Amino acid sequence: MDAFRLSGNGPLDGAVDISGAKNAVLPMMASALLAEGISEITNAPHLKDMKTMSDLLRVIGCRVFGGKNQLLVDTTGADHLEAPYELVKTMRASFYVLGPLLARFGRARVSLPGGCAWGPRPVDLHLKGFEALGAKVVVTHGYVETTAEKLRGANITFPISSVGATANVLMAATLAEGTTVINNAAVEPEIDATVDYLLSMGAQIEGRGSRTLTITGVEKLQPGKGATIPDRIEAGTFLAAGLISRGRVRVNKVDPQHLEAVLEVFREIGAQVSVGSDWVELDARDSDLQAVSIKAIPYPGFPTDMQAQLMSVLTTVPGISVIQDTIYNDRFMHVSELKRLGAKIELQGDTATIHGGSSLTGAPVMASDLRASAAMVLAGLVASSTTEISRIYHLDRGYENFEQKLQQLGGKIERFVEQ
Ligand code: UD1
Repeated sequence: MDAFRLSGNGPLDGAVDISGAKNAVLPMMASALLAEGISEITNAPHLKDMKTMSDLLRVIGCRVFGGKNQLLVDTTGADHLEAPYELVKTMRASFYVLGPLLARFGRARVSLPGGCAWGPRPVDLHLKGFEALGAKVVVTHGYVETTAEKLRGANITFPISSVGATANVLMAATLAEGTTVINNAAVEPEIDATVDYLLSMGAQIEGRGSRTLTITGVEKLQPGKGATIPDRIEAGTFLAAGLISRGRVRVNKVDPQHLEAVLEVFREIGAQVSVGSDWVELDARDSDLQAVSIKAIPYPGFPTDMQAQLMSVLTTVPGISVIQDTIYNDRFMHVSELKRLGAKIELQGDTATIHGGSSLTGAPVMASDLRASAAMVLAGLVASSTTEISRIYHLDRGYENFEQKLQQLGGKIERFVEQ
């Protein structure tokens, strides 16, 4: 298995281009199933999760091909309306095919995702949404079986903000008969990207960017065409690398608006942050940094997907910082690994208290999930001596050319195959 070796780094200095957002491409790829023909997505990153979704679409009967950063999904042969456990268990977002298959073909059988490394992560809201649209939902032998002769528009209110449930029900509603209103819809930029893609297919959706989406079902959609948005979490991770190394990092090809909450926290810590139309630069070379208290909450708040990386940064900042994750209160697998590098962190329920400022020392550690892996790389960058991080296949799920980009900034990182 691949692993990373890092050795104590000086300040990073340089610029990187940010790739397309994994979490936007995945629902866009699933949306292709809503129409017959060839849908196109540009600015798509090359990631393991894209491969998993492509494999799943192929199982369903699609042809997935394309060029550099271009993905083409030909749904002409789609006739196997099933997502097997082997694929869903490696990537929860496989569940996104359920809404489109149900809406277009009237039935679908998709494996339940099961738990993940940091908690149960249910799909009950997706299923309640489909039931509200008139589908029959049966859970049997670990699979969700849904049927509906024709979905019918409904008024759906989600009790909490869910990206996945919003996208899945939104996709299904585009082909339902009549009008669907989704109240308390998630407003993450990846939802806007999905809405834009569905609009390119001829869907009728109002309320983009708001908590209320109104979808007027149409009889048929045409293949989609559009680019994905920049990956705000990848951008935030590289800026965090600049901060932890007390360096200067510029991220290009980003949408700074999507990063506002993250930039606000970096500024509060004491970094200089400059923003252009499609770039952000963070400079922490001569900054006095201070501890902060933050809560991970739904967009436009600080994202849970940046929580682990921020924690690594805060272990190096003198004072007591506090991070609460209100979205996934078990998402703290990185804490015990950071402690192996000498970090002082107390964990109580959904809140971590970080006694920052002590220097980190290299050690062998393990990547436990995608963002925790990035957090370990950041910590390894500034730990004295060598840090080896195993199981980086987690990181490969969501970061394109990660070590090359880090090397471009001056990071001392190499990939090797663990014996
Ligand atoms: C998406 C992102 C993930 C990010 C998360 C929160 C993708 C592929 N993944 O995950 O990177 O960390 O948003 O921003 O886009 N919930 C339920 N029932 C449901 C669905 C969700 O209780 O049916 C809960 C979850 O347990 C969680 C909260 O709702 O506490 C938000 O989860 P959700 O926004 O749905 O996350 P995902 O879409 O799975």
